[in-house]
Amino acid sequence: MGSHEVDDAAEVYSSDAAACTQAQISDEIAQLHGEYQRTLDRTGAPEAQPRLDFAPYRSSILRHPTKDLRHTDPETIELVSPAFGHRDVAEIESDLTIQHNGEPLGERMIVTGRVLDGEGHPVRGQLVEIWQANSAGRYIHKRDQHPAPIDPNFTGVGRCITGDDGTYRFTTIKPGAYPWKNHLNAWRPAHIHFSLFGNAFTQRIATQMYFPGDPLFPLDPIYQSIRDQSARDRLVASYDHELTSPEWSLGYRWDIVLTGSGKTWAEPEGDEHE
Ligand SMILES: [Fe+2]
Repeated sequence: MGSHEVDDAAEVYSSDAAACTQAQISDEIAQLHGEYQRTLDRTGAPEAQPRLDFAPYRSSILRHPTKDLRHTDPETIELVSPAFGHRDVAEIESDLTIQHNGEPLGERMIVTGRVLDGEGHPVRGQLVEIWQANSAGRYIHKRDQHPAPIDPNFTGVGRCITGDDGTYRFTTIKPGAYPWKNHLNAWRPAHIHFSLFGNAFTQRIATQMYFPGDPLFPLDPIYQSIRDQSARDRLVASYDHELTSPEWSLGYRWDIVLTGSGKTWAEPEGDEHE
């Protein structure tokens, strides 16, 4: 089956899925989480990564790989660190509020944290990329047809390189929640997409950062596809008043762990997330 046919099938599926109510989706989430809790009680082994076939996340059913990924020994070249210099990324790229002539609308904020390996060592000199919706919950790309205004002063894309202590830092606008077609009245909690390379190309991850106390958490099948509560919690930034700057911007802190048992949840390879 070519990828074109898969796309068509996904379209058909999502239009059927859009008839499901939030209550049906929430019931399915509760059932799957109940099963997970029973397994956890029995085995004591938490599951840090999402299930590929998490049914309440409708479009993942047709998109996810149905066979195990083929494991091969990484080529030597893939084991060496991707090398980025500070010259590769301009300073302006980490400030999403100054990339246009005017200032974007919305709540200005600083998002910062450290990129760490499983032993807690800083991952320095690494490229961190982010992309996000604007304050009205609208992405700049054409596929996003949500009828919310585009902000001519906000593209929603940024990059930076981690410092010697593994710190990354962005200035941006808080993204809005937005609707998607998983089911009837489906809304994604506000989030920022992150992509990181890590110490080796084989550690590359794409993930999402969320904001504390979002009322959409229990309803969102993507967030809930991570069945372990502590793994879900690790995706939520903390509000940091020390980082908040007077009369200027709010501060959020979020660390990313690339390996080990406290690893930050990463999207399955080949999956395309909303
Ligand atoms: Fe998104």
